Amino acid sequence: MAAIIKTAEEIEKMRVAGKLAADVLMMLGEHVKKGVTTDELNTICHDYIVNVQNAIPAPLNYGHPPFPKSICTSVNHVICHGIPADKKLKDGDIVNIDITVIKDGYHGDTSKMFMVGKPSILAERLVRVTQECLYKAIKEVKPGMRLGDIGHICQTHAEAHNYSIVREYCGHGIGAGFHEEPQIVHYGRPGTGDELLPGMCFTIEPMVNAGKRYSKILPDQWTVVTKDRSLSAQWEHTLLVTDDGVEVLTLRDDEDLERVYHHS
Ligand code: MF3
Ligand code: CO
Ligand code: CO
Repeated sequence: MAAIIKTAEEIEKMRVAGKLAADVLMMLGEHVKKGVTTDELNTICHDYIVNVQNAIPAPLNYGHPPFPKSICTSVNHVICHGIPADKKLKDGDIVNIDITVIKDGYHGDTSKMFMVGKPSILAERLVRVTQECLYKAIKEVKPGMRLGDIGHICQTHAEAHNYSIVREYCGHGIGAGFHEEPQIVHYGRPGTGDELLPGMCFTIEPMVNAGKRYSKILPDQWTVVTKDRSLSAQWEHTLLVTDDGVEVLTLRDDEDLERVYHHS
């Protein structure tokens, strides 16, 4: 099964949905601090998405068993799909917050790392290198790039820092569906895999572990953690392949366009 090429009308809807997802992360910034619970963050996001944006939080009731909350909050050794709970964030925590909204039938999906108080040097470095994996891959996105090139860029950069790439979870096509074809894995060989075409929309969302790459799922059937309990980080954007490059549909005001789009 191949990727869906979006029409001009669909692309406009993807831009709107992507902007809304980015707005949630920007709104959330001031709320992510020591003492707040991840469930309080969930409520803030849920109310904002539903009441201010008139949109739908895609995670709520998604999948089997149905995901019980409106956002994912993945703290420290949680790789992804962390369920908001009544545990307070504490000084030194790193937390990924993953937002997916549905607006007018189309999805915008994005996540970023927040650092609470003063993180360790190791945590800070892991968070930065993981964002660099995402940005280095985004910079190269254009028609003719292959899926294996995306994976290779992420894997090479993470492993150069002695980190590991999670293999069990990946990026994905996105549009009217939350998770569409193709799968975008964050490891691989250059020049392999399907070619990108104008009008494709997909996410890149590398998960990088400070220790080994292996993961396990907790008994709640959602929370994914590192097997060795090492720290893990993730950043995600929703992208559109344009005629000659890429448009980041979930770009935030706090992002440096030079770092996202241009060669360093
Ligand atoms: N937002 C996640 C992704 O990037 C998926 C979360 S599924 C959920 O694909 F059910 F856990 F919300
Ligand atoms: Co996501
Ligand atoms: Co995603």
